[in-house]
Amino acid sequence: MTTETGRPALEARDALDERIVVTATINGDERSWLSSSRDSLLEALRERLQLTGSKEGCNNGNCGACSVILDGRLVNSCLVMAAEVEGASVTTVEGLARPEALHPLQTAFLENAALQCGICTPGFLVASSALLAQNTAPSEEEIRFWLAGNLCRCTGYDKIIRAVQQAAEEVRTGVHRSPIAGTGTHGAEAGVESNTAIEGE
Ligand code: FES
Ligand code: FES
Repeated sequence: MTTETGRPALEARDALDERIVVTATINGDERSWLSSSRDSLLEALRERLQLTGSKEGCNNGNCGACSVILDGRLVNSCLVMAAEVEGASVTTVEGLARPEALHPLQTAFLENAALQCGICTPGFLVASSALLAQNTAPSEEEIRFWLAGNLCRCTGYDKIIRAVQQAAEEVRTGVHRSPIAGTGTHGAEAGVESNTAIEGE
């Protein structure tokens, strides 16, 4: 059986492929799980760990919907094998907010209506958080250049750029200038239960 993208479904991969245990730090917690040796990181996140925030758009590295941060680097998780993240640290969109507050980017996307269908949004949020982690005062040109690998088919990009600019200002100054509540700080470890057992056995 195959999925709509022509890839073998989870059950088929498990039946055909060698199964491996992968241990990595996901959103601040050590996680170990059984993967097929052919699982991409995106498949492992979504299908083994039930972290479905990362989206599959193209599955070939073109859309950025699957963006995650791997050991401090922004990557397309559809292009990374799950086995490659052994011992690594991965931050997904689920790791951005704290329980008490959204990430400033999440608040800014809401306040600027920077999404419609939302499929691209996790990727934009993760990619933008990687930008703000190294540059809290990006120019519009720098934001557009950084986000060139993230595609949106709904909103157009201006609202997204405005949202990133607003979040950058908040991160830089610590001042939330919108009347809508929500002044979180970046917290990759927040909101995820610790789980060191092997999952999927
Ligand atoms: S799903 Fe990974 S880049 Fe499109
Ligand atoms: S909001 Fe629909 S693809 Fe971006």
